This record gives sequence, structure tokens and C-alpha cells, in this order.
Amino acid sequence: MGIAMAEYRYPRGSVLYRNFHKFFPLIRSGRGVFLYDVDGKKYLDASGGAAVVNIGHGSKEIAAALSRQAGKTGYVSGVQFTHEPVERLAAQVASFLPFPAGKVFFLTSGSEAIEASVKLARQHWVENGRPDKHRVISLQPSYHGNTLAALSLSARRHYQETFRPLLIRSARIPAPYCYRCPWGRTPPDCGVKCAHELEKAIRRIGREKVSAFIGEVIGGSSTGASVPPPEYWEVVRRICDRNEVLLIVDEVMTGAGRTGKWLACHHYGLEPDIVVMGKGLTSGYFPLSAVAAKASLLEPIFKRGKNFLHAQTFAHHPVGCAAGLATLDLIVRRRLILACAHSGEKLLAELGRLLDHPHVGDVRGRGLLIGVEFVADKRKKTPFPRSKQYAERFVAKALERGLILWPNVGQADGTNGDLVMIAPPFTISDREIVLVRKRLEETLRDMEKVI
Ligand SMILES: Cc1ncc(COP(=O)(O)O)c(C=O)c1O
Repeated sequence: MGIAMAEYRYPRGSVLYRNFHKFFPLIRSGRGVFLYDVDGKKYLDASGGAAVVNIGHGSKEIAAALSRQAGKTGYVSGVQFTHEPVERLAAQVASFLPFPAGKVFFLTSGSEAIEASVKLARQHWVENGRPDKHRVISLQPSYHGNTLAALSLSARRHYQETFRPLLIRSARIPAPYCYRCPWGRTPPDCGVKCAHELEKAIRRIGREKVSAFIGEVIGGSSTGASVPPPEYWEVVRRICDRNEVLLIVDEVMTGAGRTGKWLACHHYGLEPDIVVMGKGLTSGYFPLSAVAAKASLLEPIFKRGKNFLHAQTFAHHPVGCAAGLATLDLIVRRRLILACAHSGEKLLAELGRLLDHPHVGDVRGRGLLIGVEFVADKRKKTPFPRSKQYAERFVAKALERGLILWPNVGQADGTNGDLVMIAPPFTISDREIVLVRKRLEETLRDMEKVI
């Protein structure tokens, strides 16, 4: 086709681009961990998009499953009918939930599923005769999505600023972001002070008003894949139980195997009340998310003769559920969660070599969810000033070298802070792991020339 890449840039064409100030390469195809643009450039997708592409690009099996289902029923309303893909996918998801007999509700995006989870928690309390319980406590930093309630719970100042008058009131406690512990403590001797902050926050608000606590079990891009200490979630669970507060875990990024287990909960033996998933559930072949709840949570709603008060046109979408089934089937048949755990260890060790660089402050993660945090001063952990746009420029330089990364900024103090996420498909080979490290080293050298 030979279209110059610079054409795909705002305000040309009719697409309202996700960024008004850069051009977008036009991607033609993908295979495994690689994407190819129309000019023949090859990119190693080291972030799986936004930590979405779990099984790799260009899967013929999933394409066939989508096509087969669309040929049978492209759509039926979840209000009027049920169908085989949703019944089978719900059973499969329920089989790896951290509680028995879970019930699963499918939507299309992580943000919607987060909103639905907060509504479900609230409705549980209302039907239980506790209508005052409505407040939700979340972590700082955190990210739960971009719709208004999900954005309210997210600690992303730069996303929220413009919309502040539209956001709902939320309360936050410090995230288990050990590299930047607010009390200067280090695990394992830190006593998980950050977890105990939950009790204080509940007391401050009044336990009679708190409906739920929500957190990412292992940090997503907000904390650059920070892994909480082993006892963190046990302490949180106990505090929630003591105060009759529901525990919602956001596994939108970590679910479907990304951390080397079906859910990050399983690393901690954690039994939450609600699990939210998205992203990798279909490896991105169709937008699909899920809210899974303990059956006991639904009991009061059922007993009062009510329904879960949430409806969206594309809930339980047959093609989405078929994509989910095909993805999970491939994960099981090819033992991709085990592959993710093994490759994750190799990748983490390989990227650990970057720590020799003066501006690489930390490399951390679990499975194939890894964060690399950049600092101006390594000893003091001082971030680069935001004006330098280090993470954005790093990602742009890496892209020039054919390496796809996912940036995040502002995590250090709400404004400053730069990190990139590495979350490649579970099918990444040892050779490709080394290639990721080499391209990152080259990009670090490129940055030295401009910073
Ligand atoms: C942890 C987490 N929760 C929720 C979301 C929101 O998901 P979506 O972008 O599909 O709405 C994201 C998206 O990045 C996420 O990383």
C-alpha cells in the first residue's frame, strides 16, 4: 500500500487519535511476539499492547473460533437468552476462581467491570439492610479505568484533573509500592504498615459507611509491577473481615495467567469477595471483561427477589465468550501459564542486568509482568522532573528501534516518576528475551545523548 507513516497523525483523516501529537505506524499484521507495519518494519511487542496479548499475535485458532461463533450467532441479548459460549466460559473461569461456586458476569472493558463490581458490592449491602455502606477505599498509586467511577478510584492525578467535578468521593491508602515506601521501610521487616493503614482509613470514614476496599493484587502500570510482601493480603483480608468491608481485587492486568498463575490472588492464597478481569481473558482478540463474585454475596439480592442491577447491551457477548474460551483453551493445551512463570523468571534475571545503568532505579515484577523504573539519582531515588518526559521519550526511542513498551508516569509523587512495563506474550522465546534486554540497553544509550 506504501502509505507514508507520517500521514496517520491528527488532524489528518477521520480518526480521533489517542494522542494528538504523534504519528501512528499503520500495523498490517502480527505473528507471535512481533507486529509488522505497512512499510515492512518489524516490532517486538514487549508490552503485549497494554499487557493484553497473552498468547501472541496472529492466532489462527482464535480467528477460527471467532468466525465459527459469528457464523452461528453474532449476538443475542443476555437479558433474553443464554448460550453455550457464556455457559462454558463462566464454568471455566469459575474453575480457577479463588472461591468455590463463583458466579461470573461478562462485560467488554476493564473499566465497566470495575464499575459493575462497585455496584455489586453496594447492592449487596443495600439488600442486606445496610444502605449507609457505599464508600470504597482504594490504593495510591493505582489505576482501575477511565469511566467516571473507575477513574474516581484510580490515583492518577493527571487523568483526573480535568474531570474532578464529575468524580465521586473516594478515599485512598498508600499502595504496597516497596521501592518508594512512604515510611522508608523495607520488607520483610516492614510489618506491612501500608496494609494496616486500611484499618485507620475505615475508622476515619466509619465502618458503617465503607462498602469495599479495591486493590490490584500485584501492581499494574501504576506501581510498575510492584509485588506486595507475602503477608500483605492476609492482613488486608483480616481487616476487611473485622470491619465488614468487601474485598474487590482488580485482576484486569494480572488475570488469565499474566503473573505465572491463573490469578495473582493464588500467589497469596487470598480469597477476595469479588474478582475483576479483562485484557488477557481473550488475549485482545475481542473486548471482554468479567466480574466474578462469591455466591454468598448474591444471596441477599436473590432472597429479596431482586436482580443484580446492572445491564449493558453487550454483556455476555457470544463472540466475546467464544474468544475467551478459545484463548483459555490454548493457554491450557500449550501450558502457557507455566511458560509464563518460567519465561518471567528468565526475563526478570535478564532485565536485572539493566540495574548497572545509573538511571535504572529498580526492576521488579512477577511472571511476565515486569516494571523498569527510571530515576535521575539512583541513591536518592529522585525522579526526573516531569518536564523531561523521560518515560514517553524512552518509549518513542525504543519504538524507533522496533521495541514496543508501555510507559507510565507520575507514580513517584503524583506528578513525577517514569517507568516502563514489559509484558510480552507468554510464547516469548529465550532468544527474544535477550533481544528485549539488548534493545532496552540500546535505548538507554540513546537517552543518554538527549537527556
Ligand atoms: C489494573 C487495571 N484495571 C482496570 C483497567 C481498565 O481497563 P480498560 O482499559 O479495559 O477499561 C486497567 C487498564 O489498563 C488496568 O490496568
